[in-house]
Amino acid sequence: MDFPRPEEEYWSHRRSIPRGSLTMKRRQFLATTAATGAGCLFLPTLRLFGAEAPSNKLNIALIGVWGRAHAHFKAIEKENVVALCDVNEKHLDEAAVKFPGAKKYVDWRKCLEQKDIDAVMVCTADHLHAFVANWAMNRGQHVYCEKPLANSVEEARVVRAKYLKNKSKLATQVGTQRHAYDNFNRVQELVRDGAIGELQQVSAWGNRQLRRAGYLPPGGEPPPYFHWDLWLGPSKLHPYNADYFSGGAGMNCLQWNMYWDFGTGQVGDMGSHTMDLAWNAIEAGLPLTAEGRGEPFNPEVSPVALEMHFDHPANSWRPPIKVSWYQGGVMPASPAPWVDLNKIGHGALFEGSRGALVAEFNARLLIPFGDASDLTYYKPRRKEDLLPPVGDFQQEWIKACKGNLKTSCDFDYGGTMIEQMMLGLVAYRVGKKISYDGATGQVTDCPEANEFLKRRYRDGWTLEG
Ligand SMILES: NC(=O)c1ccc[n+]([C@@H]2O[C@H](COP(=O)([O-])OP(=O)(O)OC[C@H]3O[C@@H](n4cnc5c(N)ncnc54)[C@H](O)[C@@H]3O)[C@@H](O)[C@H]2O)c1
Repeated sequence: MDFPRPEEEYWSHRRSIPRGSLTMKRRQFLATTAATGAGCLFLPTLRLFGAEAPSNKLNIALIGVWGRAHAHFKAIEKENVVALCDVNEKHLDEAAVKFPGAKKYVDWRKCLEQKDIDAVMVCTADHLHAFVANWAMNRGQHVYCEKPLANSVEEARVVRAKYLKNKSKLATQVGTQRHAYDNFNRVQELVRDGAIGELQQVSAWGNRQLRRAGYLPPGGEPPPYFHWDLWLGPSKLHPYNADYFSGGAGMNCLQWNMYWDFGTGQVGDMGSHTMDLAWNAIEAGLPLTAEGRGEPFNPEVSPVALEMHFDHPANSWRPPIKVSWYQGGVMPASPAPWVDLNKIGHGALFEGSRGALVAEFNARLLIPFGDASDLTYYKPRRKEDLLPPVGDFQQEWIKACKGNLKTSCDFDYGGTMIEQMMLGLVAYRVGKKISYDGATGQVTDCPEANEFLKRRYRDGWTLEG
């Protein structure tokens, strides 16, 4: 026998209640039941007690339901997936077999209007991330957004500001799931506890090299089940070409993310993951300066070979530091001739007054150097003092939606990091070292750079909706 969910009784009055206040009430209910179990007071039977009781489930909309989205199926299958949205109707039908109770949409703007959505997972192409995330937060919906969170400085700032304004109500997570590897915590502990002395410089790099000549030529009409115009969304019109989607499930992004209208190449792609390894340890905000060098700027495709450098001010536990990103075969200098950083496809190097720490996602190598580097200044933590494990990364967000709203890669942390990376691309584009005012989001010494802080959108598309 089915018992009515307590919130369903409440929801039956929804027509007379404005959307925002209503959706918040359901979300507050979820948070309260998760935190205190108080929801049980309404329930007619013991059968519904516990974390998996229907009343404790999140109503989730999955936007972009194929490819990367498959990696989230396990995390959301115990929740209520109430909406599916994809511009590819074949993908939509496939996902509907897994989640038969969900309504189907091809336009995410219509999907977000579905009234019972608590939380949204965004797995679309990069150029839609900030749009969907921001619109969802405007509707009081929690958001998990695949990386990169934004494709421009402006997008990063808008999404971050929206989250900060609503952080007492919303849980957000950028899809940088490697963050949950224990090695991230260990690296942070070594750096903060002084294993390399005083931190001076941090470099992260990625060696993936995908070269594209320019936007693909017209490739005929899109198939009838594929909504190309909606895929383009706010980006300029380009002719359809099936080769943009020839990568296979979870790999298609490598076919389109090099093109400026759809992505930011390896800066937004592996840059999101690998700079996270550094960012997690250094407690940085927005940089004071940015500089970018690489192959000549191409207005159609992002560069393969690139280096970007940022000056960050001191904080309470370290002096000012330099933070750098290298990609496409350009590498930081190795801390010792016998350490070949080229052997690490995606890694980070922390340099301090008494040594260096080389890390990849899962492992680390401490290199004390100099006569004073006897490690007497560093004491490994006791087991009970280690940073707690993040645990399952998607579940961290789901629990946060239902409870304390805390996640390890919220839109403040992830938004600040991607703003720095997008600023580096602006510096690369103008070919100058630029000074940045993080409070206003303006470049202070290069007026032409301010032009490139934003993307231009097609008529009818607005980031704030
Ligand atoms: N966190 C990770 O490790 C990781 C790994 C792979 C991809 N990703 C990210 O996931 C995202 C998707 O990558 P992918 O390789 O799965 O790409 P993809 O091109 O296969 O797209 C995934 C799905 O989203 C749909 N989609 C695209 N735009 C849409 C829109 N506007 N509205 C609704 N549906 C839309 C596509 O039709 C497809 O079904 C990218 O942003 C990528 O950076 C993250």
